[in-house]
Amino acid sequence: MAKILVRNNGPLKGRVKIDGAKNAALPIIAASLLGTEPIILEEVPNLVDVKIILKVLESLGSKVEFLSENRVLIDSSKINSFTTDRKLMEKMRASFLVMGPLLARFGKAETFLPGGCAIGSRPIDLHLKGFKILGADIKEEPDKISAKCEKLVGDTIYLDFPSVGATQNIMMAATLAKGETIIENAAKEPEIVDLGNFLNKMGAKISGAGTSTIRILGVEKLKGTVHTIIPDRIEAATFMIAAAITAGEVIIENCISSHIKPVIAKLKETGAYVEVNEDEDLILVVGNKNIKGTDIKTLPYPGFPTDVQAQFMAYLCICENHAKVTETVFENRFMHVEELNKMGAIIATSGKEARIAGVNKLIGAEVKATDLRAGAALVLAGLVAEGTTTITNVYHIDRGYNNFVGKMKALGANIERIED
Ligand code: UD1
Repeated sequence: MAKILVRNNGPLKGRVKIDGAKNAALPIIAASLLGTEPIILEEVPNLVDVKIILKVLESLGSKVEFLSENRVLIDSSKINSFTTDRKLMEKMRASFLVMGPLLARFGKAETFLPGGCAIGSRPIDLHLKGFKILGADIKEEPDKISAKCEKLVGDTIYLDFPSVGATQNIMMAATLAKGETIIENAAKEPEIVDLGNFLNKMGAKISGAGTSTIRILGVEKLKGTVHTIIPDRIEAATFMIAAAITAGEVIIENCISSHIKPVIAKLKETGAYVEVNEDEDLILVVGNKNIKGTDIKTLPYPGFPTDVQAQFMAYLCICENHAKVTETVFENRFMHVEELNKMGAIIATSGKEARIAGVNKLIGAEVKATDLRAGAALVLAGLVAEGTTTITNVYHIDRGYNNFVGKMKALGANIERIED
């Protein structure tokens, strides 16, 4: 298995271009199953997770062709299977997003349950609640879910929690339902808006994406289109923190600043300088050697993103005083704490809270990426640690960051990847 080795090499400097958003690409690729004509997607990030969902589509009968590195043609006119592959489901939870489109277009879908996940139990009850309200007949077996329906019929669905995946799956299912579907307490993430824009280009009638009430008026069929995936706000935030933690000076390109307002605000509270150029989608971050401790609390959008919690925690480890991190979205998303503590951080957790006593320096150690963002957090910590930090289980990082090591190197980081 590959490892990443990082050594402190002083402030990062330069420009880094952000890729298309993983979490927008995955549902949009799943949604392309709804179309009877070819779809072309641009700015598709070159990531392991994206390859997995494309494989899921191919296993169902879609034709997938890379026109260039980030441009993909998907033709789902000839779907011949309604069952997702068990192995692919085990590899990535988001594969469950094909359930809504299959059900809407073909009236049947069968899938193995997405496996448990390191960051919490992550049930799919809200997805299933939505499908049931739209009229699907759901059969739940210990490891498998089957759904069928004559034709879905629009209705009002209240989500007990604004789940991103449930909002997307229900939105997709409702596009071809009879009549109007209203999703209340819907997730408001930018990736939901991107999915809504994509579906509307295919001919769907969706309004309110990005607010807590989404209305979908069902249509007869969806056609082909060309769509460009929005930039990845989590990758952008990770590089912003990399600039701040090393007291560097980095320009982040291809970044929609309105999507990461809480990260900008919190970086400023720690003393970093952040300048936004909205017209050119650029953000300049200049770090400050003296990092002021600040508290963060993860929340659904537009709150502080849970996907940036681990990286921001790595940054707060070397703050001048104290800081508190509260995780409210996932039940078990503090596994990086133990790894950061191995590097000399002082973090104590209690339930949803992690309390950090800032230290002067971190010390390189052998640490494990326990999940995708935790892996990124350990690289950030390694950038400022004394000695060498060796990160194992880096396949997690490959799931969500394209050329992470190469981009860090281009900014001056002393980092290398070793294939074992
Ligand atoms: C998506 C993102 C993930 C991000 C998360 C929260 C993708 C591919 N992944 O994941 O990177 O961390 O949003 O911003 O876009 N829940 C239920 N029942 C359900 C569904 C969810 O209880 O049916 C709970 C989950 O257990 C979790 C919380 O809701 O505690 C948030 O999950 P959700 O918003 O659904 O996240 P995902 O869509 O899985």
